Amino acid sequence: MSVMHIVLYLFLIVECYCSFFDPAYIYSGIVWNDTDGKSIQSHAAGILIDPNDNSYWWYGESLKTSTLADHGVNCYHSKDLINWINIGEVLGQKQVVIQNQSGPYVIERPKVVWNPLTKLYVMWFHLDSYDYQYRYAGIATSPTPNGKFTFIDAFQPDGVPSLDMNLYEDKRNGVVQGVYFVRSCNNEYVGISKLTDDYLNTTGITSRIGEPREGHAIFYRNNRYYMMTSHLTGWSPNPAELFVTNQDNLQHAEWSSLGNPTNSPTTFNSQSTFVLPYPSRKFPGTFVYIYMGDRWNAPELLNATYIWLPFTFNSDTNVTLEWQDKWDLNDY
Ligand code: DGJ
Repeated sequence: MSVMHIVLYLFLIVECYCSFFDPAYIYSGIVWNDTDGKSIQSHAAGILIDPNDNSYWWYGESLKTSTLADHGVNCYHSKDLINWINIGEVLGQKQVVIQNQSGPYVIERPKVVWNPLTKLYVMWFHLDSYDYQYRYAGIATSPTPNGKFTFIDAFQPDGVPSLDMNLYEDKRNGVVQGVYFVRSCNNEYVGISKLTDDYLNTTGITSRIGEPREGHAIFYRNNRYYMMTSHLTGWSPNPAELFVTNQDNLQHAEWSSLGNPTNSPTTFNSQSTFVLPYPSRKFPGTFVYIYMGDRWNAPELLNATYIWLPFTFNSDTNVTLEWQDKWDLNDY
């Protein structure tokens, strides 16, 4: 090997090392721009980890104008959670066709999972009339994560009126045990149902929280499941409530409350939408659990921003979320 080769080799190692440790700041409550310098419009987010390359697909509600006809699902793509490429609208009003009903429809809280059996990306979302009377979940699929998604169906899963919702992919050591649908049942209680193998239907409610909660975000850590939730106050913020199971079984989970981990009566002026387990850079082999929430900035939802903060686990049942204007992914 020539001296030239050695110098080049050393240069590459240093370059790699430096770029890995470049600050990777996440700021909360301010406008975030995509890689084109345009503000990111993807509210009530769900993050799909790409099954092929572990990159991130961020799906969310489009710009929250007062004109329902504009509303659809936007998508952004990133390899590092910091730089987001705008993919555009992956589902719009045009795609949604329901027999004997007409839009424009409320399209909220889209979440996407990949089905290894059908090889389709399956999106679930809250689909409703302008006055929230239908209380449906909508389903759409696409052979690729960047859409456009094809609308499949709209219904009340398990025959129960459904409002705020989320999907949880229960994956252990890379193996999917099942995907679960969690939702606000008629705004009276929280119901969890396992999806059918094709992810196009539910199989009955087998776990519930007996009080109304919204903004559900389930995650798994240390042999127990957690669910971050909000109370129901429209677009205005309220105290979050974190729930935990005492068993390693989501299908028949029983939940107990750990209270408000933020200690902020408004959850730092935000409402939960997702919790992303992110591989720790500081402690390889462990995860950082990132709270993702919306600062709706009601009544002017056009100015909605995002709040992403890491949870602190003082113990399995002493969990806190502290405000930080900015934090560096490299420090976690
Ligand atoms: C709060 C919910 O979390 C949102 O998704 C949305 O449905 C609003 N309520 C509507 O008021």
